[in-house]
Amino acid sequence: MSFNRKDLLGLEHLDKKEIQTILDAAKPFKNMFTRSIKKAPALIGKTVVTLFCEPSTRTRTSFEVAAKRLSADVISIAPKTSSFVKGESLVDTAKTLEAMKADIIIIRHTCAGAPELLAKNLNASIINAGDGFHEHPTQGLLDLYTMYDKKKKIEGLKVLLVGDILHSRVARSNIWALTKFGAKVRVVGPPTLIPKSISSLGVEVFYDLDEAMKDVDVVNILRIQMERQQGAFFPSKHEYNELYQVTEKRLKNAKPDVLIMHPGPMNRGTEIDDEVADSPASVINEQVTNGIAIRMAVLHLLALARNKQGRKHTC
Ligand code: CP
Repeated sequence: MSFNRKDLLGLEHLDKKEIQTILDAAKPFKNMFTRSIKKAPALIGKTVVTLFCEPSTRTRTSFEVAAKRLSADVISIAPKTSSFVKGESLVDTAKTLEAMKADIIIIRHTCAGAPELLAKNLNASIINAGDGFHEHPTQGLLDLYTMYDKKKKIEGLKVLLVGDILHSRVARSNIWALTKFGAKVRVVGPPTLIPKSISSLGVEVFYDLDEAMKDVDVVNILRIQMERQQGAFFPSKHEYNELYQVTEKRLKNAKPDVLIMHPGPMNRGTEIDDEVADSPASVINEQVTNGIAIRMAVLHLLALARNKQGRKHTC
């Protein structure tokens, strides 16, 4: 087994073997979902804490379901009703949780690098559930898993990421994972929402949606992150819809068996229309199901690495 890390902070620094180990570990967990009792004893006696300093529906619930299916004790901290509001620092809050014997802390934060800060200061394992514009590793992993599940390969697949690349940690985690597996990654969106440096990550940049769509196997549509946009990145929602909203018509240049993905939450009528979101090609709900299996795999592998006493962890 090729996974000996204390923390999961991002996909940039994982090698292909480590990512493959997580994908392989997720498969039996997914098979478990069809059983009447969807529970395994892997994390009995372990305490998992979710510390989400930004809103979330999918990721927090998915981690909690995953940890419970592995029989862990699960605690959720809501920052608005915790001592954050009294001025306690993030590290002190996390150390308090560690003093209560939390084994794994799952954190979402607006600041890129917040999970890394905790990883450096705590013995508990830290999982990044999304930090600022930086990374969302379990989303990248579940997207990769879903593509592999449907297409039976990643190498050579043409994968298009559409929309707000600038503010998207999902885009970054997808790019790190997909390029390691030999996918041909394209990004498309308004020039204001595509960082200049993105091509250095080995992706092809497009500004025209019809051109970018040519022969793609997968279209992964990203949410327009209004809450992170300070200032106007496009003249109006109408202009964005005209140029970049993914509709059935805009899919005409893609491969006939194109896969439609979206990490959620979706802004229907902005980056995606109803017909595409609900089409037979859409695997958006399967992404959510696969997310639980991926998060079970990550929790299980981190717990196994922790149990191997005396081994040096790397992060
Ligand atoms: N995909 C994703 O991170 O969704 P949430 O914000 O609902 O967790």
